[in-house]
Amino acid sequence: MYDQYELIADEYARHFTDEFDVRPFDRSLVQSFAELVLRSGGQAALDVGCGPGQAAAELTRLGLSAEGIDGSPAMISIARERYPQIPFQVADMRELPYRDGTFSAVSAWYSIIHTPADELADLFAEFRRVLTDPGWLLLGFPNWCSSFVFRRSLRTRGLDDLPAT
Ligand SMILES: C[S@@+](CC[C@H](N)C(=O)[O-])C[C@H]1O[C@@H](n2cnc3c(N)ncnc32)[C@H](O)[C@@H]1O
Repeated sequence: MYDQYELIADEYARHFTDEFDVRPFDRSLVQSFAELVLRSGGQAALDVGCGPGQAAAELTRLGLSAEGIDGSPAMISIARERYPQIPFQVADMRELPYRDGTFSAVSAWYSIIHTPADELADLFAEFRRVLTDPGWLLLGFPNWCSSFVFRRSLRTRGLDDLPAT
């Protein structure tokens, strides 16, 4: 799915620049997550499907040592430009380029919304692999997919045959 995000990275990043300012409930969830991780003695966090990097930046602001991966090079380029202090790299969340137990926390913030149900078990096993034991996992899902900006954007490029989200 991330090849399609490659086409809309700039527009997506513009649209979600202030995501946590306009969505206080989202911010409170991420804050609670960071607090739980820190209270349990955790520190290192990986944001998978990080897009333009705003969740990794929020986790960093809250005191975690966060980094991010995304399959879209355009998204990673924007994330690096916006948050040069945070490590970002291009990678597929289904095959994370990290050793077992590297992170005390993994967040997948709005990033597994396109994952087919029959791939979820393997994906969660991969998240589990890079987590410490115990470890923390944050999954974020939107409730506004039908009006989502990327669908409109893709349609303007003739890519209107996407499956419904
Ligand atoms: C809806 S965006 C969410 C981006 C960001 N987390 C946010 O909250 O705005 C989904 C992101 O997941 C990435 N993505 C989807 N499948 C992926 C995969 N298998 N590996 C890595 N990134 C993936 C896409 O490239 C895209 O940047």
